[in-house]
Amino acid sequence: MNKPATIDFATAAAILVPAATAPTQALHDLVPGEARDSLLAVHDVLRRELPQGPLAIYEAGGGSCSVLPPELPGRSKVTVVDIDEDQVRNNTYADEAILGDVQTYRFGHETFDLVICYNVIEHLPHVDAALLNFRDALKRGGMILIGAPNPRSLSGVVTKYSPHWFHVWFYRHIRGIKDAGQPGEPPFPTFFHPLVTLPRLEAFAAANGLDMIYCREVESPRYPEMRRRKPLVAALVDAGAAALNAVFPRGTDVRRGDYHVILRKS
Ligand SMILES: C[S@@+](CC[C@H](N)C(=O)[O-])C[C@H]1O[C@@H](n2cnc3c(N)ncnc32)[C@H](O)[C@@H]1O
Repeated sequence: MNKPATIDFATAAAILVPAATAPTQALHDLVPGEARDSLLAVHDVLRRELPQGPLAIYEAGGGSCSVLPPELPGRSKVTVVDIDEDQVRNNTYADEAILGDVQTYRFGHETFDLVICYNVIEHLPHVDAALLNFRDALKRGGMILIGAPNPRSLSGVVTKYSPHWFHVWFYRHIRGIKDAGQPGEPPFPTFFHPLVTLPRLEAFAAANGLDMIYCREVESPRYPEMRRRKPLVAALVDAGAAALNAVFPRGTDVRRGDYHVILRKS
């Protein structure tokens, strides 16, 4: 068991919390669909591009769930930084779980082979600071995996402009997650810094020594999930999305609510 974590916001100090001794892998339970396909493609890129042998991996905002390929933790030292005390306490897979803010927490230069920041940048008011910290902490040739909602999609616009209580309601009543919004449980409040928008993220990365080697926009997993759990609601949302797609330029699909990006430090 992890010992209870405390956070001292007065001194903004991150407190080191020893992680569980036997790390277990908690993979995202994505329903079949584009998001899952893309994550599997991401795994292939990581397997191909990461060095063989022991790895140092930083999960920024790692929470208590990982998207790592299942065989990687066995040969990696995984360090998680998360701002939520309960998330840090519930983490069972990290070798080291640190209570801290990824926008300000700094590791030594060239420490990590891989930084994972999955479903986190939309929660940050200072995405630029976080990205520069990740870049500095990476070894040359190291990679950053980012998963995030697409602010230019139907779900992205609704998430960005709706109040937090609506997100909690959606998680509880549409997704069926009864403890949604409880301490340490998603959804977490969103901020949607301009750099969450894909073209801006790509330009910022390029200007700061990070090449985009993988990029895919995918249908939000909420759609297949909703079609399975709430077919009537899903039919209405699908009809709305189809109407919007018909109005927007050819090739637009407002269902592409998420993206996966891999950046490599040059
Ligand atoms: C939606 S969860 C994603 C967790 C995990 N990456 C995953 O994919 O399951 C967002 C996580 O980001 C964390 N978070 C939000 N702002 C943060 C910050 N400034 N520094 C560190 N963690 C943060 C939250 O506490 C939460 O654990």
